Amino acid sequence: MVNLKLSCDSPSPLTPHPSLLTPHSRMNKKFIALALLCLAASPALAADEQKLAQESGCMTCHAMDKRLIGPSYKAIAAKYKEDPTAEAVLSRKVKEGGAGIWGQIAMPPNSPRVSDANIQILVKWILAQ
Ligand code: HEC
Repeated sequence: MVNLKLSCDSPSPLTPHPSLLTPHSRMNKKFIALALLCLAASPALAADEQKLAQESGCMTCHAMDKRLIGPSYKAIAAKYKEDPTAEAVLSRKVKEGGAGIWGQIAMPPNSPRVSDANIQILVKWILAQ
């Protein structure tokens, strides 16, 4: 499984050794280093999720912004934008498969080939498109 969670609270490898810094500048530099690390982390996370979608076989039938066999991820995100139950409902649908929402073509079950944890990561990512 790909570990996608990168905590911005964790000690930064960019922080200079504390003995090099006065207490005041130590705070500042640490803050800046963490902020940079978090900024740098965001595009990497999206790329990891796209890779996970590819490795999980989702991109055979789905694309970001055009319909393939299944609906585009942007269309899915737009459809469920106001729906607070979307994450739970769609996670279940991806696990079990099914048809009838976007047409008569069915999505095959993706579970247990794709783990529940990865399905949750993928659904969150799709809903954020
Ligand atoms: C063999 C083709 C195929 C694969 C592989 C596939 N899908 Fe789908 N997917 C579809 C089809 C077709 C639909 C439309 C189903 C419908 O109309 O209810 C769909 C619908 C969806 C939906 C919207 C469901 C709804 O009820 O609105 C999501 C979210 C989704 N897929 C995510 C994924 C993810 C994540 C993966 C990979 C783990 C994946 N799909 C793999 C074909 C596929």
